[in-house]
Amino acid sequence: MKKKFLVGITGASGAIYAYYFLKELKILKISTEVIITKAGELVWNYELEKPIDEILNFTEKLYKEDEVSAPPASGSNEYSGMVIIPCTMGTLSAIACGSARNLLQRSADVILKERKPLILVIRETPLNLIHIKNMELCTQAGAVIFPAMPGFYHKPKNLEELISQFVKRILQFLGFNPKNLKTWQKLNSE
Ligand SMILES: Cc1cc2nc3c(=O)[nH]c(=O)nc-3n(C[C@H](O)[C@H](O)[C@H](O)COP(=O)(O)O)c2cc1C
Repeated sequence: MKKKFLVGITGASGAIYAYYFLKELKILKISTEVIITKAGELVWNYELEKPIDEILNFTEKLYKEDEVSAPPASGSNEYSGMVIIPCTMGTLSAIACGSARNLLQRSADVILKERKPLILVIRETPLNLIHIKNMELCTQAGAVIFPAMPGFYHKPKNLEELISQFVKRILQFLGFNPKNLKTWQKLNSE
């Protein structure tokens, strides 16, 4: 079966992470379907100043959060995994307690029950104890907390280089071989 990944976009700051992640997935010819929340659309429009339909250049399907009967809502449709990028504290909390109140939350719940990889690119700072406890619960349930914390050791010259390297690390984590991922070698002084 062809591998197909779900990409969730919520209303955390950092729509640019989703944009470059989808771009890299397309370069690797990885098949995707995207679910975006209402707040996700709002932040995408505000931060990227691009129409939401631009996502359709990178994905096969774009679902809105209220399409609760769409295919990702059922475990009978085999997706290989899901990455929520960026992930709000609100969605983290919903996944932690299994409330599944929209298509994105339900899909994450399904991915966990089907024991498939779920990556949560959370973005918030600072964190309160509720956030930390919810991260613990999601981790115990099998999700991977992959905070939106890009590295700087590859010496990015601009935002694109910073974010692209970060999203390639997610792809590497998922077992893909992203092009031009900069891996750490060693300090020249050693
Ligand atoms: C411009 C903007 C930036 C936001 N950034 C964050 C953020 O970084 N992290 C977060 O947890 N919520 C953030 N929020 C709040 C969420 O969008 C809000 O809690 C929303 O209800 C989350 O819904 P969702 O999880 O269904 O997308 C932001 C809201 C706006 C308008």
